Amino acid sequence: MLRTAQELRAWLQGERAPLTLIPTMGGLHQGHVRLMEVARSSSAGSTLLSLFVNPLQFGPNEDYDRYPRTLQSDLALAESAGVDAVWAPDIGDVFPDGPEDSVGLTVPALLQSNLCGRVRPGHFDGVATVVARLLALVKPQRLVLGEKDWQQLVILRRLVEDMNLPVTVLGVPTVREADGLAMSSRNRYLSPENRERAVALPRALQAADFKDDAADVRKVLIAAGLEVEYVERVTPTSLQPCGQETAISLLAAAVRCGNTRLIDHVFLMSRAPLVAIDGPAGAGKSTVTRAFAERLGLTYLDTGAMYRAVTWLVQQRQVNPEDVAAIASLLVDFNLALRSLPGGRQQVLVNGEDVSDAIRSPEVTAAVSAVAAHRCVRKSLTEQQKAMGAEGGLVAEGRDIGTAVFPDADLKVFLTATVSERARRRAMDLEQRGFAAPIRSELEAQIAERDRKDSTREEAPLVKASDAVELVTDGMAIDAVIDALVQLFRARVAEEAWPTPEH
Ligand code: PAF
Repeated sequence: MLRTAQELRAWLQGERAPLTLIPTMGGLHQGHVRLMEVARSSSAGSTLLSLFVNPLQFGPNEDYDRYPRTLQSDLALAESAGVDAVWAPDIGDVFPDGPEDSVGLTVPALLQSNLCGRVRPGHFDGVATVVARLLALVKPQRLVLGEKDWQQLVILRRLVEDMNLPVTVLGVPTVREADGLAMSSRNRYLSPENRERAVALPRALQAADFKDDAADVRKVLIAAGLEVEYVERVTPTSLQPCGQETAISLLAAAVRCGNTRLIDHVFLMSRAPLVAIDGPAGAGKSTVTRAFAERLGLTYLDTGAMYRAVTWLVQQRQVNPEDVAAIASLLVDFNLALRSLPGGRQQVLVNGEDVSDAIRSPEVTAAVSAVAAHRCVRKSLTEQQKAMGAEGGLVAEGRDIGTAVFPDADLKVFLTATVSERARRRAMDLEQRGFAAPIRSELEAQIAERDRKDSTREEAPLVKASDAVELVTDGMAIDAVIDALVQLFRARVAEEAWPTPEH
């Protein structure tokens, strides 16, 4: 076990990257064991568990003094879970000038005006302050936290993002007792009678339906003899109140059972997650979207392939790509089917015929922009895409997904790269395929011109949705872009709501 900041520094010299920190306040239970397992199984680097009961996150009337301090059994559990080291600092190692006289952080009011933040003023400022200090002392590349404390997880993700810390945050689903009670260090305070009563909390939440509101759950909890502190339904990312219009919402509750405070939540979902990825040509959207979809068990919807399929049919029937009336009549009995094949490939069938390869021909490539610009084509395909997305479970990639097709997507990304970076990639691609690449300035001019056309055209211009995250991929390897997309997704959709499939 490491104690002082000095001992920690000495240990850090020999660690293997990526280093993962699992911050805890001790009182370890199977939920923490799960955090340690995830830390170990998801990387070959070193894992460090910290045990530190942080005085700053307890209010004056809260249980700082009686919070479980079970060092010996914590060490035994950490050892059996196989972490590389445990660091149990003293207060002075974390706050050399004392907790009250050290620089502290303030979490934005919006993130703490609901749920636990509202009833525990100062709590999340204390959490953010201590975690920032732990991160500064340990400098891990990865931070593992439980989804059980969802508001804490949202706030700590924001801390990492706001301060631009080079840390990946991994959220781990809540672990429950056999009867459903969420594991918590505080469960040990429950008398046998209260322990029995406590199970009403997960039961009431898990029985809640998408159409139920917080008041329904509150009634059930009160009837079960629990003292309700709050029951709230919020948007998982903004933590602002919401109703049924939000496809994935968080229904969270805090109760008192005897003297013990318990929290729990459930995600209410009207459909599986939807992700919209838009951006200019040549930003590498298809490659990363395909891989991202596969990693998360979502279906990849290549809308570009749909426009290519229409273009293929237009050419097949020898229709002039400018002849709107003729194209409109083609669309009447245009039957398009997309099937995901293993390995992320997509099969495209037009009126039963497999055109997956044919739609990639240079002739289709040359005509697709003109065909896709017709209003009747956009309307017809947008409707089909919306119908495909009704149940969710999709990642769609295109130019107007976040604005026209899935305006309610859970994550919208505008994936782009500077013109010079896209020209560099295009030249590399051409050279690799044995073609002579035009000089760089010419390629850049072509790309800039295409951007101009795409963003000024009348029908479905390329625009960044106001709520999209812009990801500029200059200098990023493909894997890094996929990792960044996964991080963005996980900040919005919990593992509990949509588990990552095992590969
Ligand atoms: O979740 C906890 O145990 C604590 O809030 C944390 C993250 C270790 C900060 O003290």
